Amino acid sequence: SEERTLAMIKPDGVSGNYSDDIKRIILEANFNIVTETLAQLDKETASAFYHEHSSRSFFPHLVTYMTSGPVLVMVLEKPNAVSDWRGLIGPTDAQKAKISHPHSIRALCGKDSQSNCVHGSDSTSSAEREIKFFFKDVVPGDIASQH
Ligand code: CMP
Repeated sequence: SEERTLAMIKPDGVSGNYSDDIKRIILEANFNIVTETLAQLDKETASAFYHEHSSRSFFPHLVTYMTSGPVLVMVLEKPNAVSDWRGLIGPTDAQKAKISHPHSIRALCGKDSQSNCVHGSDSTSSAEREIKFFFKDVVPGDIASQH
């Protein structure tokens, strides 16, 4: 059955003009783009979105990076959306992606372990939280819409 995940084209992807190419890949992989919004994150919003990483040494750099320009946030839908989108984007470290997953999106437009061009929810529970975080009016998926 249908599942939803949160996808984001990060500032390096948007400023590098990769949005159209990435959306083409998304549609060719049979995802439905349920909704999308272009947003400029402020420090508070970026910190809240990534709060699980707040104790990591890279966190201040991550917040600076994520606020450096607009991001394109999308809700993607298809059966197995969370895992299929993670597969399509490839490993976190774009440097490694270029070697091990040369056809992945991060191999296409990422640079390293921080500037990796795109985000994808890592589980169905993360997807639910992240979709609600950006789209207050969008239901996360089938289960959440049954109540
Ligand atoms: P993302 O999948 O969006 O989740 C957390 C983000 O933190 C990750 O992509 C990278 O942008 C960043 N990140 C993860 N690991 C590192 C690292 N070792 N050094 C710098 N940034 C990182």
